[in-house]
Formats: sequence, structure tokens, C-alpha cells
Amino acid sequence: MLTTIALLVLPNAKYEQSYREYIAELGDEERYPFPLDFDHTDFAELLAKKERFRNGIDLPDGFVASTTYWLVEGDEILGVANLRHQLNERIRHAGGHIGLGVRPAKRGCGLGNLLLKLTLDKAFDSGINPVHIHCHKHNAASARMIIANGGILESEIGDGGEVVQRYLINAL
Ligand SMILES: CC(C)(COP(=O)(O)OP(=O)(O)OC[C@H]1O[C@@H](n2cnc3c(N)ncnc32)[C@H](O)[C@@H]1OP(=O)(O)O)[C@@H](O)C(=O)NCCC(=O)NCCS
Repeated sequence: MLTTIALLVLPNAKYEQSYREYIAELGDEERYPFPLDFDHTDFAELLAKKERFRNGIDLPDGFVASTTYWLVEGDEILGVANLRHQLNERIRHAGGHIGLGVRPAKRGCGLGNLLLKLTLDKAFDSGINPVHIHCHKHNAASARMIIANGGILESEIGDGGEVVQRYLINAL
């Protein structure tokens, strides 16, 4: 039973310490969503870079504008989501509109379902419908989270030796 009062916020300096703890907690684990790979030595520059991504400025080749959201409670970051503002050919194929993750110590108690729901609300509010969301077939928690939020399996494809499941979620 989820009893947390968590909010979705844009990245801001208030959460610097929690962000650093979050990255340390991830250790060598592959990081989702991709902005967790950004260098965070200079925290102000990290925030500025996220803002550039949000505004579509200085994007690397092949990237579309995207907004990062933090799921927070008090001063703590519980999870991170990244909402792509549109698809291009590459992420329509594999990647989709939303990437997200929950910090390891907080997994398995409903926060992934909540984070996806709140991020879907942002997507639908901005006119994205349906939302394309993809996961590796072996990632049972991710697939169940997507299905719990109304995901309908559209197709499965091979990608780099893995099977990627491609789901669609329509606004209610
Ligand atoms: C995927 C992830 C975000 C899910 O977050 P979470 O907070 O653990 O998920 P929840 O507790 O909300 O559970 C979501 C669903 O997965 C199920 N689930 C949770 N952990 C599971 C596990 N280890 N194995 C199988 N199912 C699991 C839950 O029962 C729930 O399904 P239900 O609603 O049908 O009961 C989290 O595991 C994570 O951050 N993983 C690493 C990053 C990642 O893989 N991101 C997704 C990339 S596509």
C-alpha cells in the first residue's frame, strides 16, 4: 500500500544533495532515464543542461527536446522521468516518449506506477496521445508498470540482441 505524498517537480537546486545520493545509490546499474548519465560535478551546469534539453537548445544529433521530472517527497528524490516532446524515427523504433526509474531503495512499493501516471498526465496535457512507451521484455517490473497504467502491447522487436516491447497508452 502506497502511503507517500509525492510530487512531480522540475529539477531544481533544492535537491542537489539527494540527487548526489541517488546517483551513488545507482552504483554501476544502467541508468534510466538517460539524463542520469549527465555529468553532475557542477550542479548548476547540470540544471542548465536539462533546461537546454527542455527548450530544444544544443541537442546532440538524433535527440528531440525532452523534459526531466523528479518525483520528490520532502527533500528527497524518489524517482526520475524523462518525457520526450515528440518522436523521431529512432525513438519511434525503440525508446518511446517516456523513460523513467525509481531509486533502488524505494522500488517495489508502487512508486513506479505513480511516477508513470504523473508523467502520462504531463504528456496528455501537452497533447501527446497516444503515448508510446517501450521496455525490454525481460524487465518484468517495467512491463507490469506500463500495463498497470493502461499500456497495450503494440509490437515486439529485436534491438541489439534484446527484445523490446512497444506499448501504446491512450488518454482516458
Ligand atoms: C521499472 C521501475 C521503474 C518500477 O518501479 P517500482 O517502483 O519498482 O514499481 P512499482 O512498485 O510501482 O510496481 C510496478 C509494477 O511492477 C510490479 N513489480 C515491481 N517489482 C517487480 C519485480 N521485481 N518483478 C516483477 N514485477 C515487479 C509490481 O507488482 C507492479 O505491478 P502491478 O501494478 O501489476 O502489481 C523500477 O523497477 C526501476 O527503476 N527499475 C530500473 C530502471 C528501469 O528499468 N526503468 C524502466 C526502463 S523501460
